[in-house]
Amino acid sequence: MKILVIGNGGREHALVWKLRQSPRVSEVLCVPGNGGICEEATCLSGDSRNIEGLLALAHQHQPDITVVGPELPLSLGIVDEFTRRGLRIFGPTQAAAQLETSKSFAKEFMQRHKIPTAHYAVCSSEEELRKSLGLFSTPIVVKADGLAAGKGVVIAQTRDEAIQAATGMLSGKLLGTPSSRVVLEEFLSGEELSFLVLSDGERVAPLVASQDHKRVGDGDTGPNTGGMGAYSTDSLVDHPMVEWLLNHIARPVIAGMKSEEMEYRGLLYCGLMMTARGPMVLEFNCRFGDPETQAVLMRLDSDLVEAIEASIEGRASDGLFHWSPDASCCVVMASGGYPGSFVTGKKISGLDQAAQLQNVRVFHAGTTMRDGEVYTSGGRVLGVTARAPKLEDAIQRAYQAVEMIRFEDMHYRKDIGARALQSKA
Ligand code: AMP
Ligand code: GLY
Repeated sequence: MKILVIGNGGREHALVWKLRQSPRVSEVLCVPGNGGICEEATCLSGDSRNIEGLLALAHQHQPDITVVGPELPLSLGIVDEFTRRGLRIFGPTQAAAQLETSKSFAKEFMQRHKIPTAHYAVCSSEEELRKSLGLFSTPIVVKADGLAAGKGVVIAQTRDEAIQAATGMLSGKLLGTPSSRVVLEEFLSGEELSFLVLSDGERVAPLVASQDHKRVGDGDTGPNTGGMGAYSTDSLVDHPMVEWLLNHIARPVIAGMKSEEMEYRGLLYCGLMMTARGPMVLEFNCRFGDPETQAVLMRLDSDLVEAIEASIEGRASDGLFHWSPDASCCVVMASGGYPGSFVTGKKISGLDQAAQLQNVRVFHAGTTMRDGEVYTSGGRVLGVTARAPKLEDAIQRAYQAVEMIRFEDMHYRKDIGARALQSKA
């Protein structure tokens, strides 16, 4: 079987690595891939925003299944286009992907289907904003309606700050492109949890839960990033809580989408806040998370291709995945300056030594290979991931590998998973 993966991040490297382990897979292709993916798959040049170009590649190479990593091609309707042409593809349609691509759609959908989430108001003018702001106490969360690559959320400490952020989103001053609507949201406190499920349009199969670290600095300080590291362990959520999340969030979402004739097939990422009032949805993503996928797939003992086929063919079930009881930890190594501006083209050393460590995988993100050497080419560069029976050992092993790797001006968080250990102690 031939699989085509679309994307070039750490998530896609983890997907390629896992898909290749399937005894049914003879070849993995990736568009465009990165310096690490190209060692494990045939990388094809192409642009994940150009659906016509991807269709042409699929016609030329005839993959049995295409797996889409990032949200952008899903938001452009890649699944609709591939399906229309008889090509098998894993992911939601453009309409179903609105759960991620429109925050106002997601909030209104959750309200219709009684899915627990923060109180909110949708506004499209400054006048509406001023009226609605009175309904919230500070801090107030302000969200741009469309995709914003992680930059569309501002936590405003005062009403003035909220007005400024929201008007900046409406005018385009804040994000470059104007948002037609903004969502104001009640601020929730608690622990964040990434709960991913695979769906076939009707049934869901849960993946193991994980936790991301969005802020750039230790102790959750500094600006938000795409994610600086993640860990996964069974002690994050117990079995009754998984059942609760399935019954009150994942299953009602899938049933709600079906009842509204936007059947949701693919991976549904539920970004949750575990509050004193119970779990609440912060956001949905219509794809695997990055870097959660690196930590989660490190614990997957069964065949990922079987699961993806089950989603496409309508055969998902509770027991679709087999998970290791081990814990895992992924530490992201980033370019100096990230998430602000950064310089690329730095030579990376120590990758071979780190790869010698048992139960460690170094997933590449922003890297490129030139003459047998690996260079940085993006903000998040590597996701160094380890697995061990105990979380503390998985963390220790991931950092042991991180310390073997060098590139100029690199930085990484030193405290991935640390809070989980503290709360256990
Ligand atoms: P989102 O893209 O909606 O997940 O927001 C990005 C990040 O902003 C989340 O991971 C949270 O850390 C934070 N966030 C979003 N919504 C809220 C909220 N209602 N209360 C507190 N923090 C939030
Ligand atoms: N790690 C957050 C995301 O994938 O959106």
